[in-house]
Amino acid sequence: MTITKFLPGKSNGKLQTQSVSYQSPSNIALIKYWGKHGLQIPKNPSISFTLNNCRTTTILNWEERTNHKEDYELKVILDGKHKPGFEPKIHQFFGRVVEYLPFVRDYAFTIDTTNSFPHSSGIASSASGFSALALCLMEMERELNPQMSQKTFDQKASFIARLGSGSGCRSLKGPLVVWGEHPEIKGSSDIYGVSYPYAVHEVFDNYQDAILLVDQGEKQVSSTVGHNLMHNHAYAPSRFNQAIENLSSLIPVLENGDLDQFVNIVESEALTLHAMMLTSNPYFILMKPNTLKIIEELWQYRRETKIPVCFTLDAGANVHVLFPQNNREDVQDFVKSELSSYCQDNRYIFDNVGDGALKL
Ligand code: DP6
Repeated sequence: MTITKFLPGKSNGKLQTQSVSYQSPSNIALIKYWGKHGLQIPKNPSISFTLNNCRTTTILNWEERTNHKEDYELKVILDGKHKPGFEPKIHQFFGRVVEYLPFVRDYAFTIDTTNSFPHSSGIASSASGFSALALCLMEMERELNPQMSQKTFDQKASFIARLGSGSGCRSLKGPLVVWGEHPEIKGSSDIYGVSYPYAVHEVFDNYQDAILLVDQGEKQVSSTVGHNLMHNHAYAPSRFNQAIENLSSLIPVLENGDLDQFVNIVESEALTLHAMMLTSNPYFILMKPNTLKIIEELWQYRRETKIPVCFTLDAGANVHVLFPQNNREDVQDFVKSELSSYCQDNRYIFDNVGDGALKL
């Protein structure tokens, strides 16, 4: 389906520039996106904290094309090394965006990318990577159509990022981004992410995320395979409704700062995501024994200290430990002294909630 509002405006001719660079962060979902249809349209709304330290920096260089053998001409460089293995994914992405950014056909691109987090740390770089790339392409579009409003730029950049990676559309702004239509969230959309529009209690300012790297290998289940597991899944319809309800419950919690409720919603979402994988066909166990050890230790620590720390999980074994800025010293000590022993090579990353992407 063509989204007419993002079709390109009348172009101003040729680009004078040859390069642009953006840095985009990763994000961690509180209400999870799991299940999609069509071209990356989510089956339920989701909301995430934008992170700050886990970032992808992308320098996009282009020159006029000489070689027209393939639909698109591009080269991917990761951490200074040519990575042809990543190029089919970008060819596919260009195929999805060409309708909206037709100039991708006219230039030869070099996509030079580095991640602030360690390579193969088990942290997905697709959200931050596609967000940074979408913003670079949108700067080209802005040069060709300088009359474009900032609002259109923001929406279209998120829309384009989504066509690369669904959760990528939540990585452009911060600190909280909603993606997917929700009846109580004004402006929410299935086709791009929007900044969370309502009041947020100060306890969530600079919220902390300690990312515990339990398993740094390749993803056991790719996101495409994972999302597809929700087709014909026995529990899918109730899960999609539950996500809508959980997001409704989160609205007052974000406003009043009730951390007991926050912990309850966030942990339940993480476990439900994994429950969907446990009960799909084929079925997967994406947690590792150390994931469960961390959860048990964290629960015990929370019982004993009354510190409102909680966990969330993505589609893998790593654990995100979320806590207020006020408890930073105590929880970081706990991570270093206790939880790090369950991490592969004792590795963890201290991050916090951030404001989104940056043009360099
Ligand atoms: C478990 O955004 O990686 O992290 O749209 O296929 O790129 P694609 O999937 P992706 O899925 C992320 C799923 C999740 C939950 C979330 O971030 O909401």
